[in-house]
Amino acid sequence: MRDVAIIGAGETKYGEHWDKSLRDLAVEAGLKALEDAGIYAEDIQAIFGGNMSAGSFVGQDHVGALMADFAGLAETMIPAMRIESACASGAAALHAGYMAVASGLYDIVLVGGVEKMTDLPGDMVTDILAGAADREWEVFFGATFPALGAMMARRYMYEFGMTREQMALFPVIAHKHGALNPDAHFQREITVDTVLNSAMVADPLTIMNCSPVSDGAAAVVLAPAEIARKYTDSPIKISASTFANEYISLHSRESLVRSVSTIEAGKKAYKMAKKEPKDIDLVEIHDAFSIIAIIGLEDLGFAKKGEAHKLAEEGQLYYDGDLPYNPSGGLKAKGHPVGATGVGQVVEIVKQLRNEAGKRQVEDAKVGLAHNVGGTMTSSIIHILEVM
Ligand code: COA
Repeated sequence: MRDVAIIGAGETKYGEHWDKSLRDLAVEAGLKALEDAGIYAEDIQAIFGGNMSAGSFVGQDHVGALMADFAGLAETMIPAMRIESACASGAAALHAGYMAVASGLYDIVLVGGVEKMTDLPGDMVTDILAGAADREWEVFFGATFPALGAMMARRYMYEFGMTREQMALFPVIAHKHGALNPDAHFQREITVDTVLNSAMVADPLTIMNCSPVSDGAAAVVLAPAEIARKYTDSPIKISASTFANEYISLHSRESLVRSVSTIEAGKKAYKMAKKEPKDIDLVEIHDAFSIIAIIGLEDLGFAKKGEAHKLAEEGQLYYDGDLPYNPSGGLKAKGHPVGATGVGQVVEIVKQLRNEAGKRQVEDAKVGLAHNVGGTMTSSIIHILEVM
């Protein structure tokens, strides 16, 4: 296995893009990543594209071929494929791209992620997203994604006594960071009261405990680490790329307040990168619902079980705190175009490690961790990135 580095990164703004199609978004992010790497589209040997459900959201499947065609690569006939793992499709595409370069099969690989979600009414979007759960055993009986997240939150509050006020601190931090990110879907700060008093979606989750429905795309260019400096002065090494799955439906699990897939992928990632939680300078944690971020932080070893809210209360999670958390704004404020999210988290870490994150720059950042999950933490994918 060869070491793999990121030599270019780019993304679109996240939000409602009435004027841009799925292909426009994918090509915009891809071209930005190529420009950043200082290479031409013809230099790419393979494309891995994360996308959850373009077939349902915009009626377009065969997304890999579409991306290659509209990047001007149809005549090069390179392999281009869509990778799907629900809301972790982006990180799954990066995992696939990582394996392709690490194995020696390809040298220069483009990894993208894209989703165009806002063209449909909310009830249709909710139904499509519910496809990440067990359609037959959960969704058929009325569960939506926010409802499944709410069950996890209620159980957690019951077991550990966390209050809604404590849970509200996570979206408050995310929005504070989103306000510093010109590419974020929401660029405004909110308070604990805003979270508590906004519309209830599924008790105890209000709209402010939920990530939004967003359009957007993100892309990175991978190369073998040994030749990365040919392309850039600031390559970022992928020190770990790990993936774990567990039972798809909540009722099959032993616990609703632990994610065994996050624990497993995290353990493997720390081992692969030869790192411990204390070595990580910043994290991008999957916060589709506040409770997912809380469980994620604990199961990755950043807090004891039942105590993640203390990190928030102590101010440690702000971009200038001890454990900078979601400096991009996270899924909550930066946005959650589901197929793009995992790649977008990594684009943020690349910017941070290169000291290019502007007003939300984490001081002296050398190592970052991205945590992207599919379903109700069914699939967990971890990437650890570091300055070379
Ligand atoms: N956070 C903050 N504001 C939000 C928001 C969110 N999550 N979702 C919508 N808004 C805002 C909109 O910008 C809009 O503001 P405006 O009136 O100023 O334009 C307003 O709230 C109403 O938006 P609308 O799109 O009608 O909201 P909705 O009620 O249809 O949808 C949710 C709200 C929470 C149900 C929807 O965002 C959702 O389903 N989120 C979860 C997505 C999900 O499950 N992702 C996968 C998880 S892994």
